[in-house]
Amino acid sequence: MRYSHDFIVIGSGIAGLTYALKISEFGSVALIAKDALDEGATRYAQGGIASVMADDDSSDLHVSDTLESGRGLCKEDVVRCIIKEGPAHVRDLIDLGARFNRNPDDSFALGQEGGHSKRRILHAGDLTGLEIESTLIRAVRSKPNIEIFTHHTVVDFITRANLDPTIAPGEKDDEVLGLYALSEETGDVSVFVGKATLLATGGAGKVYLYTSNPDTASGDGVAIAWRAGVRIANMEFFQFHPTCLYHPQAKSFLISEAVRGEGAVLLLKNGKPFMEDYHPLGCLAPRDVVARAIDYEMKKSGDDCVYLDVTHLEGYRTRECFPNIYKTCLQFGFDMTKEPLPVVPAAHYMCGGVVVDLSGQTSLGRLFASGEVCYSGLHGANRLASNSLLEGLVLSHRAAVKARELAKPSARLEQLQKAIPAWDSGHAVDSDELVIVSHNWDEIRRLMWNYVGIVRTDKRLSRAKRRIDLLMEEITEYYWNFKITRNTLELRNIAVAAQLIIACALKRKESRGLHYNLDYPQLQEGPAIDTFVQEVRARVINQPEQKEDTVKAQKN
Ligand code: SIN
Repeated sequence: MRYSHDFIVIGSGIAGLTYALKISEFGSVALIAKDALDEGATRYAQGGIASVMADDDSSDLHVSDTLESGRGLCKEDVVRCIIKEGPAHVRDLIDLGARFNRNPDDSFALGQEGGHSKRRILHAGDLTGLEIESTLIRAVRSKPNIEIFTHHTVVDFITRANLDPTIAPGEKDDEVLGLYALSEETGDVSVFVGKATLLATGGAGKVYLYTSNPDTASGDGVAIAWRAGVRIANMEFFQFHPTCLYHPQAKSFLISEAVRGEGAVLLLKNGKPFMEDYHPLGCLAPRDVVARAIDYEMKKSGDDCVYLDVTHLEGYRTRECFPNIYKTCLQFGFDMTKEPLPVVPAAHYMCGGVVVDLSGQTSLGRLFASGEVCYSGLHGANRLASNSLLEGLVLSHRAAVKARELAKPSARLEQLQKAIPAWDSGHAVDSDELVIVSHNWDEIRRLMWNYVGIVRTDKRLSRAKRRIDLLMEEITEYYWNFKITRNTLELRNIAVAAQLIIACALKRKESRGLHYNLDYPQLQEGPAIDTFVQEVRARVINQPEQKEDTVKAQKN
């Protein structure tokens, strides 16, 4: 099949849905989701959305908390813009029907999370993401010019450089003309063309063995963009959430930071609190500090987990504030109103990603990105809790304002799009060796957890690089020999995400925020520098003398 719309949106979390809604005022939209429409990280967000709503709060305070958390790598103009414009867009969400907790006097009942100097987290119980996601889906479904394609996995972009050898991939004049996407239902690969495409595919938590992310978080957007020559940055900054439930069946179920916001205390197995030894803010220190402290204490004691104690709160308050967390923990045999919960850190948020400006524009023509997949400069080296929903909301509005300029008909573009060939699977056959796929998934996730986790060393990173490069060769061969499936596409993407994290981590010769390397425990002197990577010439340009260093190129 071949589909033609004015705009293409890939991903259906807060970033994709917000943009789809807004851009649908200017043309037809294809909204592509890999799974069911509501499946993805947004719906699982528990804590909430950080926004200046209280009289005793201010944009300046929110800005300074964000900058402090970002350890010198936030872009201040981006931080100021997103924080300033956020509250108006939060009110748009409320106008669409989103309900956030309120006090008896109708003011917002704001939550507290690590690194915030004020209560500023809007939340809907402990199911904030679900409230936002359902609200946006209702609105999107009411728009006749948004066509929804669920269970479609994007394979790759089709760029001008793919069709015209005189255009260098990812360089000036290159642009996204459309994409190939695999339907899980039919197994067919269709061509989608549009005048502008938004990437809003979320993060890559599945690259790690333990993650709070849903199964959809396989780094698709960053990998697809990378293969098209788009500029990527700061992938070494992967945030680990300090408190996920430690239970073999719980799949790293998140225990929201909001629980610590209500006074929950982290304890060692012997009942001793330990966070005061690491940071004046104790259990509400920024995430990088808390996750590292837990990692250190677990390694020192050999224990499998630490404990989160919220038993000081009256039972009814816990059940009222955290109904979903309470119920889920109970299902796993823990009554959090009576006993401390066993918790461990798990991979949670990709702070780096596809480089965008304040309009969500990437380095490639006609391609925008928003949400976790992008690197705007808001989060720097360590994202402040609950700033991510805000980023998706604001950037998607701004991207729509910019992308609508591309809505006018273009004979040149149509001509180019006509030349896009249908998908051809060549001599590929159905796989009879799925064991390779599942083995490679497991190997990547384990090696990333063991070698590229909360604490790194150059030796571990180099080992990880050797192994992932080898795996990538196998995966690439498999990709060409066998008919593609969602599983193999995700595997290929997760391998690219792993390569990018390792490449960036190897280039950063310092410890900063979420990137902690025992070989370089200090901050590097001088101004903080981003780690940029781009596939075209495989450049890594965070350090001038490494300009021509190569990052393993992927076969297109
Ligand atoms: C949480 O509820 O702790 C997660 C919030 C976030 O990651 O921003």
